Amino acid sequence: MGAVFYSTRRGAQHGKDDPHAGGDGAEGGGERGRRRRRRRRRRRRLRVSTAGAACHSNKVRASSPCCGDGVRRTALLAVIPKGLDTEEKQLAYVATAMIYTGIAVFVIIMSGVRVVYGRYATDCSWLWGFKINARIAWFLQEVPCVIIGMSNILTANHDVMQSTANTILLALFMAHYVNRALLYPWRTRGSKPTPLSVMLMAWLFCVVNGYMQTRMLTHVKKYEESWFIDPRFGIGVTIFFCGMLINFQSDDILRRLRKPGEVGYKIPRGGMFRFVSGANFLGEIIEWTGFAVASWTLQSAAFAVFTFCNIAPRAYHHHLWYLSKFPDYPKRRKAVIPFIL
Ligand SMILES: NC(=O)c1ccc[n+]([C@@H]2O[C@H](COP(=O)([O-])OP(=O)(O)OC[C@H]3O[C@@H](n4cnc5c(N)ncnc54)[C@H](OP(=O)(O)O)[C@@H]3O)[C@@H](O)[C@H]2O)c1
Repeated sequence: MGAVFYSTRRGAQHGKDDPHAGGDGAEGGGERGRRRRRRRRRRRRLRVSTAGAACHSNKVRASSPCCGDGVRRTALLAVIPKGLDTEEKQLAYVATAMIYTGIAVFVIIMSGVRVVYGRYATDCSWLWGFKINARIAWFLQEVPCVIIGMSNILTANHDVMQSTANTILLALFMAHYVNRALLYPWRTRGSKPTPLSVMLMAWLFCVVNGYMQTRMLTHVKKYEESWFIDPRFGIGVTIFFCGMLINFQSDDILRRLRKPGEVGYKIPRGGMFRFVSGANFLGEIIEWTGFAVASWTLQSAAFAVFTFCNIAPRAYHHHLWYLSKFPDYPKRRKAVIPFIL
């Protein structure tokens, strides 16, 4: 609508200033010219207001980037094939792409390519890009989830947001990312700088996933009130909180391994580290599995699958790294799944 309005104003201005142009000024004076100009102005006003009305009808909202809300979606729509005429289908397409990407990432990392941040960043090739302070990198790469989430909440469909389940699921997602983007970075101790390319990949994931999850919960999927008492919702939310607790506790154990100024590594002990080397990753995987169960959508399942594919191999690499560095490393400890893997 902004573009239509702008070109209309420009056309009027153009015609007024330049009598040779094909606008109003080219029609000369006289009663006939004035009437013709009035008719043309009325037609333009009608066109602008029709565009505005269409912009707010649900059908157009779902498929065209014509209003402020749509502009934010333009980048996303650019990579989505035409023909997916509802937002639900578009986000299902993104979710499917995320699952395939996750599987590809899993295969690549398990074939030996380590994601070079943290302990693996110290001697990585310059091709990964210059290194950024870990606190700044964590903040920049995770904050899109908070910003996009807030922006979707502010423009939310009022009817969708009436649902208790929508509000709770949204609160869980936002709580995790407020911690990850705003609290976690400032609390880490001695973290190694992150290469630019790694930060950009994490940033891209947060943009796409932050948009997809919060858009679903604020504009697209309205849960009936009966979903609030559905066992899947209760079980999923409980699993989410268990995962969040494990993730918080494990992040905290790792942080306390270093005194201020230290950068070395020690054997983590306590909490779920009794069972696995990647207790923080286990917590995160459980968290998003619970979220997927409570949400019961392809989009939330895609997030859980991607998280597993991305960080289970990292936990496995950490496990091998500990075994090679510490001769007294607990032999019965597994990598990421207690007693199994
Ligand atoms: N959802 C997702 O896809 C996703 C992806 C990645 C991470 N995450 C989450 O983000 C959080 C951090 O991930 P991460 O990959 O950075 O975890 P990490 O490799 O375990 O490192 C976490 C922090 O602890 C330090 N640390 C790790 N092991 C240590 C040890 N043995 N002794 C002393 N300090 C140690 C690290 O320092 P150094 O930097 O010096 O190694 C870093 O500051 C986790 O909770 C993870 O679940 C989520």
